[in-house]
Amino acid sequence: MAIFASSSSLPTTTSSGGGSHGRKRWLNLLFLLFGVAFLIEMTFLGRRLDLSGEAEEVMHNWAHTFFRPTRVTPSVATSYRRAGGDGDGMRECEEWLEKVDSVNYSRDFGTDPVWVGGFDEDWSSCSVGCKFSSQSAPDKKPDAVFGLRQNPSTSTVLRSMESSHYYAENNLDQARRRGFDIIMTTSLSSDVPVGYFSWAEYDIMAPVQPKSEKALAAAFISNCGARNFRLQALDMLENFNLTIDSYGNCHRNRDGRVDKVKTLKRYNFSLAFENSNEEDYVTEKFFQSLVAGSVPVVIGAPNIQEFAPSPNSILHIKELDDVASVARSMKQLATDSAAYNEMLRWKYEGPSDSFKALVDMAAVHSSCRLCIHLATKILEKEETSPAFQKRRCQCTSSAGTVYHMYVRERGRFEMVSIFLRFGNLTLKALESAVLTKFESMNHVPIWKKERPESIRGGDELKVYRIYPIGMTQRQALYTFKFNSDSEFRSHIEKNPCAKFEVIFV
Ligand SMILES: *[C@@H]1O[C@H](CO)[C@@H](O)[C@H](O)[C@H]1NC(C)=O
Ligand SMILES: *[C@@H]1O[C@H](CO)[C@@H](O)[C@H](O)[C@H]1NC(C)=O
Ligand SMILES: *[C@@H]1O[C@H](CO)[C@@H](O)[C@H](O)[C@H]1NC(C)=O
Ligand SMILES: *[C@@H]1O[C@H](CO)[C@@H](O)[C@H](O)[C@H]1NC(C)=O
Repeated sequence: MAIFASSSSLPTTTSSGGGSHGRKRWLNLLFLLFGVAFLIEMTFLGRRLDLSGEAEEVMHNWAHTFFRPTRVTPSVATSYRRAGGDGDGMRECEEWLEKVDSVNYSRDFGTDPVWVGGFDEDWSSCSVGCKFSSQSAPDKKPDAVFGLRQNPSTSTVLRSMESSHYYAENNLDQARRRGFDIIMTTSLSSDVPVGYFSWAEYDIMAPVQPKSEKALAAAFISNCGARNFRLQALDMLENFNLTIDSYGNCHRNRDGRVDKVKTLKRYNFSLAFENSNEEDYVTEKFFQSLVAGSVPVVIGAPNIQEFAPSPNSILHIKELDDVASVARSMKQLATDSAAYNEMLRWKYEGPSDSFKALVDMAAVHSSCRLCIHLATKILEKEETSPAFQKRRCQCTSSAGTVYHMYVRERGRFEMVSIFLRFGNLTLKALESAVLTKFESMNHVPIWKKERPESIRGGDELKVYRIYPIGMTQRQALYTFKFNSDSEFRSHIEKNPCAKFEVIFV
């Protein structure tokens, strides 16, 4: 508790009048009181801290204007106080913080968009100024380029959707060692993930059709020399007397010139066998099975359950030893329609929040997400400058201390302020403050126009995750969590004007 007490407290009393005249009078009075409190505090603190040089500057600046940010130690900076009267000073604190903490950045992305060189690319819109252009400018360098370094001030970007089991250069560690600053791969641990999934690409909520085929499962496997055990697994499933219609080059027993999704719709199961078992490497094989409403039997990403539309909606062959039990499950499901239909229930009732939150990521084009990533880095760099070090980020009145933090929606660039009170620095209060703020702005989630109509929900917002800005999507969606209110509090303490991202579902 003590670590949050921002500075020594001086009880002051005043009464505040109504209206603008009263407010002005109040401000004058406050100014005076602040001065007295301030002088006493400075004397008090001066004994403990070596403020000689700074203190003079502080006094000087302070004499100019009450609200002006000054270079002072945080403990002094937060001693903005008022007491008694109508409110408890919290609103004044919030207004004050909003003003003094909003230091201007030198770059305005509206007039000077993030520039990614090397490709000409167009997409509909982005929440930050962003242009992809191969044209060169005489007096400017791109912020980033695809491929290897051209000059030290330009970030290098690696973008690929191939598995690192086939293209070792896509391995995150290897790519970093080679000097890439920003990595865009299927890995949710990469800086800007590029997945095979999106609402636009797959009609995931397409209705289920009757299973009219005699065979239990369909397979579309064309590369018969994959580096995992998928061919052996196919052999084994066949040896368990499962009837499998094979449309690909491997074990072909049906004419492959068909529409894949249309075909899959007629089968109970779809063998979604990837060519490598790599985390987050989940391709159209899986998503097409979901569109078709054919239960996917997966060989591939060890974490495929994180991509499942609901618990108990897919079968996973993690290793060859699993084939026997998966074959048994398939046979059993083919005779138990209630159990089988249970696996497709998400098609009628909608997928889990976890699935929505994952696929919603792709509601924003990866090129736009790259620009947001770059712009965020550019601002972060500037935040180490002295002007930003002077921000107050908290304010104390007689009723306690208010903490200033910033939040934005994942996929958007602009941040908004939220405030939490000392004594209420809890995860619950954070979520509630975020909801209140975005509701007050009539915020429309970024996925609203992208998701299929049936799973867009109403107008109410629902928070799925809130996490510190700069985390990977793997952390944000699956591994990160403030374990307690005190962990959250210490994050706020260590990160003045902390920034968060929120995912709504
Ligand atoms: C920040 O920029 C705005 C708009 O350009 C300007 O009105 C404001 O005075 C600036 N604030 C500071 C502290 O420089
Ligand atoms: C598969 O069917 C064959 C022929 O009907 C039979 O000999 C074999 O035992 C069956 N295998 C399994 C695993 O059921
Ligand atoms: C597919 O599953 C349903 C539901 O269990 C079952 O009625 C049907 O016979 C199965 N089809 C095949 C080919 O096994
Ligand atoms: C804590 O914050 C939440 C959300 O802002 C609010 O509903 C609640 O009343 C607050 N509790 C206290 C003790 O201030």
